[in-house]
Amino acid sequence: MANNAGRKYDIIPNMIAKQVIEKKREGKALGSAEIREFVRGFTAGDIPDYQMSALAMAVCCQGMTVRETADLTDAMMRSGVTLEWPAGGAPTADKHSTGGVGDKLSFIIQPLAAACGLRVPSLVGRGLGLTGGTADKLESVPGYNASLTLGEFRETVERVGVAMACQTAEICPADKKLYALRDVTGTVASIPLITASILSKKLAEGAGTLVFDVKCGSGAFMRERGDALALAESLVSGAKAAGRGAAALVTDMDAPLGFAVGNANEIEEAIDVMSRPARGTRHEPLAALGVEFAARMVSLAQGTGLEAARELAWSRLDDGAALAKFLEMVAAQGGDIEAFRRRRASRCVHRWRISAMKSGHVRRIDAAAVALAALELGAGRAKEGDVIDFDAGISLAVGRGERVAVGAELATLETATRQDALESAAGALYRAFEIVPEPCEPPRLVLEEL
Ligand code: URA
Repeated sequence: MANNAGRKYDIIPNMIAKQVIEKKREGKALGSAEIREFVRGFTAGDIPDYQMSALAMAVCCQGMTVRETADLTDAMMRSGVTLEWPAGGAPTADKHSTGGVGDKLSFIIQPLAAACGLRVPSLVGRGLGLTGGTADKLESVPGYNASLTLGEFRETVERVGVAMACQTAEICPADKKLYALRDVTGTVASIPLITASILSKKLAEGAGTLVFDVKCGSGAFMRERGDALALAESLVSGAKAAGRGAAALVTDMDAPLGFAVGNANEIEEAIDVMSRPARGTRHEPLAALGVEFAARMVSLAQGTGLEAARELAWSRLDDGAALAKFLEMVAAQGGDIEAFRRRRASRCVHRWRISAMKSGHVRRIDAAAVALAALELGAGRAKEGDVIDFDAGISLAVGRGERVAVGAELATLETATRQDALESAAGALYRAFEIVPEPCEPPRLVLEEL
């Protein structure tokens, strides 16, 4: 573990900060030292928030070159602790998702990659707004500790092969500070800033291979395909510039992923996907997407061909090895899966079922609308500090492309805490469905590959 914070500061920050801001405002490329010193000064508190905000706005308006983005990423990564993994062990890899609705892929991909022989250190986030957080979903398992120390995190990865825990305060403090400013200064929507923010945290994990799932569509951060592709390219080139193996898939997020949206129900769905061979079942698209990501992690980390890695991943999913690894990780982090199953079986929730008012084919299930309905039910946080109802959520009964008859169930909503919100959430959820007379193909989940 390397502690990069607290190095001697060698340029007087306030004298140069204004010049750096002006240079970027005029569209000029900043030097590596200028970026490094600016981030160092900001992290140390020598460069005030207003100067950092001004620079963020200048970057938003003028952009950054690939080299500048790499320098910003590196400076942010070095603002805190970076993990190193002893050589001689299994290769290390992780997958990062930009976040989507019903996205339970991490519970499949990370254990699957570990079951294929990789070490998978995975620092994950909490949910805010439309997309749920991986850490919150895992904490729906009683006892699961998503707040490991870095020592516990390292020990779990070495012993089990995979750990999933929240980023600690020691990792990328510059990003934490900068993101809070970007959030309130209209400077989130910038590919270089997003790249540096995501990548600095992922690089700090120390994994040799990084595979990115850049979601695109109504339930994603990136709604337009061109923007999603640009972000994917930026993440991959940044990771490669930092000496890591990297790949990305741009994936569809116009509709929720799979059938469950919430917290505990997403864990259940992931377990279900891993419990028996998924090919030929309703879980096949989700399983196949998980395999695509795990195969890229294995192929890049082990230097094997993608087709061989894909076959290995399918076999480890089908033979139950991925599920066994997931359950081993949950137990290692204090989770009691039997208590989870008992609690789910006897959960006390208010339910509302919505049914088709006409026959036809499901063309659209708007991901953003589904996410809003789930939020209303208590499955997410509208603002920081909100308490999540782990049993709140939505179970879709049909997927895109399926035929429905009038009266058939479309979805069921559940909440333990917001009975009063059920009716309006059910109305919003109904409007998320578009049912058309003509048959329609379910769209491809992988939109772009790089
Ligand atoms: N996620 C991050 O971690 N950072 C961003 O800037 C955007 C999404």
